[in-house]
Amino acid sequence: MDTFATFHELVKSRHSVRQWQDAPVPREDLEHMLDCARLAPSDTNAQPWRFTVTTNRTTIRLLEEATHARFRELEHQLQAAGRPEAARKLKVFEKYAATFGSAPALILVSGEPYDSRFMREVFTQMMTPAAVAQLSHDESIKSTSLATMNLLLAAHALGYGSVPMTGPVLAIPDTLKVTFKLPAPFEPHLLIALGRPRTHDGRTTSRKSLESVVDWID
Ligand SMILES: Cc1cc2nc3c(=O)[nH]c(=O)nc-3n(C[C@H](O)[C@H](O)[C@H](O)COP(=O)(O)O)c2cc1C
Repeated sequence: MDTFATFHELVKSRHSVRQWQDAPVPREDLEHMLDCARLAPSDTNAQPWRFTVTTNRTTIRLLEEATHARFRELEHQLQAAGRPEAARKLKVFEKYAATFGSAPALILVSGEPYDSRFMREVFTQMMTPAAVAQLSHDESIKSTSLATMNLLLAAHALGYGSVPMTGPVLAIPDTLKVTFKLPAPFEPHLLIALGRPRTHDGRTTSRKSLESVVDWID
C-alpha cells in the first residue's frame, strides 16, 4: 500500500473505544504514542503541552468514581432546585463522561497559556487584554488538540483503542490537577483513556458528507 492509502486506512478505521481488555499497556508503547504527540505542530512552535500518564488501576478507578460523585452532586442540586428534567439529562451525560474506570491507561493532556513574542509585542497592540487572554487559552487548546490527534492515531496504529474525553475535565478539573500533579499554569484539556480494545467492532458513528462540509471558493 502506498503511504497515503496506509494513512487513509488508519484514519478511516480509528474510532473511539470505551471497553478494554485487562492487559496492561507497556511503557514502550505509551512512549511511542507520546513521541508522536510531541511532534505535532503548535503556534510559533510554542509546544504548550504536557502529557501525564498513569497506569495505576486504583487511581483510574478512583478518578472515574470521583467523576460519578461530582455528577451525582450536581444532579441532587438540580433535583433540589426543582429541575428534574435537567437532572435527568445530566445523568445521560454522566454515562458519557465517566466510562473510563476499566481503562488500563490514562493520559491527561494539559496546556499552558500560549505565549510568544508575537503575543507580547504584536497581539497586545491589536487586542484588548481580555481578548489576548482568550487567545492565549484558545491557541493552547488548538495545539494540544493537534497533539492529541497524533496520539490517538499512533495508539490505533499500535493496535490500541482510545477515547479522548472532555467530561471528566469539566466535572473534576481540580481533582485531575492534584492527582496528576499538574504544575501551574497548566490546565487539563483532555483525558485520554486507552488499552487493547475488548471487541474489534468498527466505528459506529457517521460523518457528514464531504460535499456538505467543504466549500471551494475562487
Ligand atoms: C473534544 C472531544 C471531547 C470528547 N469527550 C468525550 C467524553 O467526555 N466522553 C466520551 O465517551 N467520548 C468523548 N469524546 C469522543 C467522541 O464522542 C467521539 O470522538 C465522537 O462521537 C466520534 O466518534 P469516533 O471517535 O468513534 O469516530 C470526545 C471527543 C472530542 C473530540
